[in-house]
Amino acid sequence: MTQIMDRPPDIREASAKREMLMKPVVWSICTLLWLLPAAANADETLEEGERVFQEACAGCHGLGARGDGPTAALLSVPVPDLTLFASRQDGMFDAARMVRLIDGQDGLAAHGGPMPMFGGLLTGQSVVIDGWDGSPVSTTAPILSVVRWLETQQR
Ligand code: HEC
Repeated sequence: MTQIMDRPPDIREASAKREMLMKPVVWSICTLLWLLPAAANADETLEEGERVFQEACAGCHGLGARGDGPTAALLSVPVPDLTLFASRQDGMFDAARMVRLIDGQDGLAAHGGPMPMFGGLLTGQSVVIDGWDGSPVSTTAPILSVVRWLETQQR
């Protein structure tokens, strides 16, 4: 017959103490590992957004998004300063509304035509964000990255 030997109490106590000391350490490492990629992702998203903007939008909206790109002068419609997008709406940056303005889900007719359709141009992984009223708005990762970058350019 085998007898299951319990560990003597002093060893048990020592390991319980070690566990108590280790727990916060393990938790902080887990938290760090969880937060780091998110931070790196946010940086990547902004870089990607700026790159897409310079390629697809800066011609009209200008490198700094202030509505002064070289093509702006050739258009009959004024090109809006996108760094004032939030301040035109009482300081609220409505990302979902901007998404719809860019990809043409929203009032492209109101754009008067010169704003090209980017819904088809910017293909990529589809993403869904919350509208400010909580309703879901779906778009693509490149469009969302442009919107996130433009959000950082508000003044
Ligand atoms: C061919 C020139 C042109 C290009 C390229 C262009 N836009 Fe525009 N955009 C305009 C014009 C002109 C308007 C204003 C249209 C109107 O008010 O009817 C506008 C309006 C907008 C608006 C609405 C602003 C507001 O306050 O209502 C957003 C947002 C916007 N553009 C973002 C972008 C983004 C992002 C890109 C690149 C993916 C882009 N645009 C590329 C010409 C352009």
